[in-house]
Amino acid sequence: MSKQTYLTGITTTGTPHLGNYVGAVRPAIEASRIESNESYYFLADYHALIKSTDAELVRQSRLEIAATWLASGLDPDKVTFYRQSDIPEIPELTWMLTCMAAKGLLNRAHAYKALVQENVESGSADPDKGITMGLFSYPILMAADILMFKATKVPVGKDQIQHLEMTRDIAQRFNHHYGELLVIPEVVVEERTAVLSGLDGRKMSKSYNNTIPLFETEKKLRKSIMKIKTNSLEPGEPKDPDDSVVFEIYRAFCTDEEAAAMREDYAAGISWGDSKQRLFEKVNETLAEPREKYLQLMEKPSAIDDILEEGARKARIESRALMDQLRAATGISAKA
Ligand code: TRP
Repeated sequence: MSKQTYLTGITTTGTPHLGNYVGAVRPAIEASRIESNESYYFLADYHALIKSTDAELVRQSRLEIAATWLASGLDPDKVTFYRQSDIPEIPELTWMLTCMAAKGLLNRAHAYKALVQENVESGSADPDKGITMGLFSYPILMAADILMFKATKVPVGKDQIQHLEMTRDIAQRFNHHYGELLVIPEVVVEERTAVLSGLDGRKMSKSYNNTIPLFETEKKLRKSIMKIKTNSLEPGEPKDPDDSVVFEIYRAFCTDEEAAAMREDYAAGISWGDSKQRLFEKVNETLAEPREKYLQLMEKPSAIDDILEEGARKARIESRALMDQLRAATGISAKA
């Protein structure tokens, strides 16, 4: 198989939790260790501005997310790790792509349509009430992220498939007018991607307020785990591991042998208190070392920024070269 270029972005809103770790951070870091591929990982901080006007939250969450990836084992020498806003060519490409994107295409974006639908249902006179141009053209910014680095494979969640289709559509239109300059990417949907349940049994998500933060203190981690909802079976009564969030999270952190042993303990009637204690010990053992690294990084944000700047320096060698070509092709600059 020819060399592939993987690229994915992480929107910088919110503090990373166990669900993010199991579903996104850990698999991406494992993939980045495969030598034959090239990977680009970036913090989508311009995308964060669409979702939040809280400057402190955006600033803090950029550091937390960068520190999380680095502390979890991302090697910035092996991948290109940067932040979107350090690449001025991205907004420049966004504009060129905006001029290629049919408005009708963006009208059909699920995220936009859902908001319009909400407005209509609530009886608002304006179907576009509260919708910014940032939100409307979000898929074009995402297309620029992807096309800038000639990504061939883009791993994303199911909710992002449509954005990849739009990226391909916009790139094809650009190539039709200006020559084959943009690489058409393919989406990689991680069907198997683990989705962890949260404290209340629904999917772990910031919007449900049911998360277990990834790098909180040992004491707080234990407290969060003790809050996981269970049924009222008494100690000594057999319990069904497949119907338990406590087991589900344990499973995401343990080996196959440990899981088999725990299944037996459930059948033998382990108490919920003990099973939570065992879960806490397992998660804590896995996270203790990364947590140390995380805290060290967070104490020295300038070190995080140095790493991101070095990533941007590498990335900009590519982005400048591509933009030179695109400026010439579109007539913005003299012929190449
Ligand atoms: N929109 C993506 C999300 O919310 C984040 C993102 C921004 C992204 N730019 C990207 C993902 C480019 C993949 C490629 O999850």
